[in-house]
Amino acid sequence: MKITNICCIGAGYVGGPTMAIIAQKCPHIKVTVVDLNEDRIARWNDTNLDNIPVYEPGLGTIVGESRGKNLFFSTQVDKAIDEAQIIFISVNTPTKTYGSGKGMAADLKYIELCARQIARVSKDDKIVVEKSTLPVRTAEAIKNILDNTGNGVQFQILSNPEFLAEGTAVEDLLKPDRVLIGGDTTPEGQKAIKALVDIYANWVPNDKILTTNVWSSELSKLTANAFLAQRVSSINAMSELCEKTGADVNEVARAIGMDSRIGSKFLKASVGFGGSCFQKDILNLVYISKSFGLHQVADYWEQVIIMNDHQKRRFSKNIVSTLYNTIADKKIAFLGWAFKKDTNDTRESAAIYVADDLINEQANIAVYDPKVTHTQILSDLDYLETRTTDQNKKFITSFNDPYEACKNAHAIAILTEWDEFKEYDWQKIYDSMLKPAFVFDGRNLLDGAKLKAIGFQYQEIGS
Ligand code: NAD
Ligand code: UGA
Repeated sequence: MKITNICCIGAGYVGGPTMAIIAQKCPHIKVTVVDLNEDRIARWNDTNLDNIPVYEPGLGTIVGESRGKNLFFSTQVDKAIDEAQIIFISVNTPTKTYGSGKGMAADLKYIELCARQIARVSKDDKIVVEKSTLPVRTAEAIKNILDNTGNGVQFQILSNPEFLAEGTAVEDLLKPDRVLIGGDTTPEGQKAIKALVDIYANWVPNDKILTTNVWSSELSKLTANAFLAQRVSSINAMSELCEKTGADVNEVARAIGMDSRIGSKFLKASVGFGGSCFQKDILNLVYISKSFGLHQVADYWEQVIIMNDHQKRRFSKNIVSTLYNTIADKKIAFLGWAFKKDTNDTRESAAIYVADDLINEQANIAVYDPKVTHTQILSDLDYLETRTTDQNKKFITSFNDPYEACKNAHAIAILTEWDEFKEYDWQKIYDSMLKPAFVFDGRNLLDGAKLKAIGFQYQEIGS
């Protein structure tokens, strides 16, 4: 089957960048990205490429190259579904906040809505691709809906999970470690797999395109995220032990990382992992394990989350105890709010939880983040429902200038590892702060020796 028209439902952090790369690499394919969120689509169509809703290094240029040629952003979901041969579902799959499985299971209501819409609109055979991260065996539910509510057309369901990391999405999409495609073993399933393989083969070497059955593909995505998050929790667990014993977690990470069986990546101790996916996907894995009665398996993975929560809490507790057990009315500057550098995404960022703890102690938080707006920061705090918006507004301010954020502060907390923080004039910052001036480096980012020489009381994680 020659594919010339695809659509993607969901113009978020995955749908937008993924489709921009497919459009760039496959000029013969018309790619339409649709979303219900009108504001988001308007921003994807903004003539000023700095305003597209997802900040990723290099993404603006790539969108600019194809947009209006073979890449389109639209709110006309039915039309895009009708015209497409392949439909990617890339909508959000957050943790359920109600009913059975609340706080653990993935909320599949957006996925089901998409399936019903595809079934209603489709007039010819379609390949439906799960791009969102889903619990294992979701394809079964999607197929059931499509086959029983559709117009008698044939649907093939493929699982094609996305492994990009935010901040490096363009690079990850251009040079993926692997592309995973799961499909049915039937001849029709194999034909569908081939159609999707042929798209990726436009830029991904064949030996990096892996095909499996649907269930292996779905479960591999959850497993990959669980393993990655587990490494962060493992090194963070060690960071606390390092602090008690005089060992230095940076040195320990380096020493173990040189063992080729362990490897050096993803061993950076931090204030805790954030992002929309690690926690959600592990909770989902825990829920699935429990639902099969696999309680030891569930407990094993849940510990990764427990450790991460502990790490965030421990960071804020340490700020309070170091500042003489009272931070009421003290100004604490936050450098960084995003969950990692090079993204404007703040979902589940450790900064939110640390700020919440410190506001409970009535500290005044002054935030500077190069890509996050004050509205976003307030909405992140409101989402926790600890306080009203008006109460949050009293305790949190944002600055466009990092030096202003730090001026007259008692302490600075580094919450995101933005490169620019390393380049600041730290002497100037020190001079403008109240003394003693503290830096709590939640990312082990700055040169501690240099800061101490200036006069800062500098603390990093795990030493
Ligand atoms: P997102 O919230 O940024 O984007 C999802 C979009 O889907 C939203 O804009 C929403 O309006 C839209 N949407 C929801 N229901 C819709 C419907 N019925 N019709 C049209 N649009 C609809 O989410 P995201 O970060 O892009 O994540 C999407 C999926 O990809 C999730 O399952 C996530 O676990 C997975 N994933 C995310 C990342 C990442 O880095 N963010 C990486 C790999 C996988
Ligand atoms: C992660 C995975 O890396 C992607 O492969 C996956 O596709 C994605 O989740 C997803 O499914 O959403 P992402 O969350 O965007 O990507 O970013 P990561 O680089 O994995 O970082 C996650 C969090 O862990 C960040 O808060 C980061 O600062 C933290 N981290 C990461 C550490 O604290 N230490 C490390 O060594 C690495």
